[in-house]
Formats: sequence, structure tokens, C-alpha cells
Amino acid sequence: SRSLRLAVIPGDGIGQEVVAQGLRVLTAVLPADVKVETTEYDLGARRYHATGETLPDSVLAELKTQDAILLGAIGDPSVPSGVLERGLLLKLRFAFDHHINLRPGKLFPGVASPLAGDPVIDFVVVREGTEGPYVGNGGSLRTGTEHEVATEVSLNTAFGIERVVRDAYRRAAARPRRKLTLVHKNNVLVHAGHLWTRIFEQVGREFPEVTTDYLHVDAATIFFVTQPERFDVIVTDNLFGDILTDLAAAVTGGIGLAASGNINPSGAFPSMFEPVHGSAPDIAGQGKADPTATVLSVAMLLEHLGFADEAAKVEAAVAADLTERAGARSTSQVGDALVARVSG
Ligand code: IPM
Ligand code: MN
Repeated sequence: SRSLRLAVIPGDGIGQEVVAQGLRVLTAVLPADVKVETTEYDLGARRYHATGETLPDSVLAELKTQDAILLGAIGDPSVPSGVLERGLLLKLRFAFDHHINLRPGKLFPGVASPLAGDPVIDFVVVREGTEGPYVGNGGSLRTGTEHEVATEVSLNTAFGIERVVRDAYRRAAARPRRKLTLVHKNNVLVHAGHLWTRIFEQVGREFPEVTTDYLHVDAATIFFVTQPERFDVIVTDNLFGDILTDLAAAVTGGIGLAASGNINPSGAFPSMFEPVHGSAPDIAGQGKADPTATVLSVAMLLEHLGFADEAAKVEAAVAADLTERAGARSTSQVGDALVARVSG
């Protein structure tokens, strides 16, 4: 019999509620002979206020031994901006070398897009996850004076770019349309931009079957809205990927549906799956949050751990549920519907 050791970090705000539904679906879809052992970790605003800790080394060491991590949401207005983001979420992504931040942009049938004419949207953004301006390489000088200076230096290594670009090519090669778009801003950010472009072209020689394309990030935002069907796989840096994937969520039915995986393909460290949305403190505790993004993240988790049939089943359940959605439903009502579908 197989077993799956899963770390669960519900986190803040609606995190708790959506993760509960994600776990119900996970348990319901797995065959009876798969033993799921979940360990819940109390991390986030509550722990920070109680102990001052964001992610103690002892917890990091325990998390390291798990097969995967399911995370709800991090962030609370009572904690200064950046403390939990850097000290918890980004610390996990960096410590476990989650260099592939995978974010599908898919408009499911029956979901209303704000875009005219029911476009076909089915792409995946491969966002670099461990470099760029996210590394925290910067500083402030003359703080508080009128001559204050702040820098935030984007780090781009040939090693880091090559591995994410190659991963994106592989994904593109495995999809029917076999198309890969590099998004950057190489007309202005010439140092990083040219390195990305050069590596993109070099690695592309190994994948002659993949059609390639380049867009500046500003132009990409236009095409996300006017011509989203042109995208298949997109590869981009950490910050551009952050911004583009919120836009991707907006054009595919909103952040209540957007899933993500922070992946370490080598398996050396556990990969982490989380909805793209935040902790939504304004609706927390009211049973209003849509758990669909978390459930789709669970599908990505299953796929990553080799449960491809179960992943497909969860995605099919969500797709079916979305075509029949009418009126507002509570978090647990959506969970009930999805559990029923994957159990059938
Ligand atoms: C996301 C979030 C995070 C990011 C923040 C909370 C650090 O916006 O997962 O997209 O910028 O990556
Ligand atoms: Mn974001």
C-alpha cells in the first residue's frame, strides 16, 4: 500500500477554510490503499504575534521530510507588510528551491470571463521562483532623509534561467500546440533581458518541434486581454510572472479559481501547492471563500506525486461543477459538490 505524507499550512484568513475543503477532496479521490498522513503546521499571523516566529528552523527541518506541502494563504493586516511574505512564504520557496512556479490560466466552460466573445484560454505560465527581484538583494541608504535611496536588485543567473527555460520547453513540447512564449523587457532591462533571450534561443535548439515567440511584458498584458488564445506555455521571471498570473486569473474567472504549484522537479525537497489568492481577511471566517483554487492546487499536487488519474478526476469534477454553478454557495457547499463528484 502506498502512503503520502502531507504537510498542511492553512495560514491566515480564508486559508483555513479553503484548505479544509481541499483536503476533503484529496482524501475522497485517493484509492483506499493510499494512506494519507497529514501534519498541520501553525504558521502565519497568529504564531507571529504569539512567538515572534515566522518559520523556525525546526519547522523547516520537519517540512523537509514531507512528500508535499499544501498551503492556504499567508498575510494579515495586523502584521507589517513583508514580514510573513518574506519570512514565511518566500522563505519556503527559497529554502526548498521551488524554481518552477507553475500557474495554469484556463477558462473553464461555463465560467464568465470579463473578456468579450468567450475566448479559448488554456495556457500555463512557468514563472521562475527563486531569483529576480525576489531574492531580497537591495538596501536603503540615508533612511528617512530627503536623500534616501532604495535599491532592489534583480538577480538572474545562467543556471537559474536555463533550468526554468528548459522546463518550460519540455512542458511546451508535451502539449498539443507546442508553443512557448518568453516574456521579459529586454528593450530596457538589457542585462537580464539579453541573458534570458540568449538562453531561450540556445535551449530552443534542443526543441525544434516547439514554436517560439518573444513579447515584452507590457505588450503581453495587452495580448492577455485582447488575444489570450495566442498563448500556450509562457516562461518569465519571478516578478513578471507574479503580475501576469494575477492578470491570467482575472481573465479566467477570478482568483477564486487560480491554482499554483511551487515545484522542485528533482524531488530533493517537497514541492508546495497553494491557491494564487491571498488570505482575504475581509471575508475570512464567513464561509464565503471559493475553495476551487485550492482544490485545483490539490490536483496539481496529485499530478506531481504521480497520481495522474486522481488529478484528472479532480480537475474533471471542478470542470463539471463550474458548468452547473448557479447562485452563491458557501465554501463547504462547493466542497460537498466536489467530494460527491470525485467519489462517484
Ligand atoms: C503570489 C503572491 C506572493 C508573490 C507574495 C505574497 C509574496 O503574490 O504567490 O503570487 O509575490 O509571489
Ligand atoms: Mn502574486
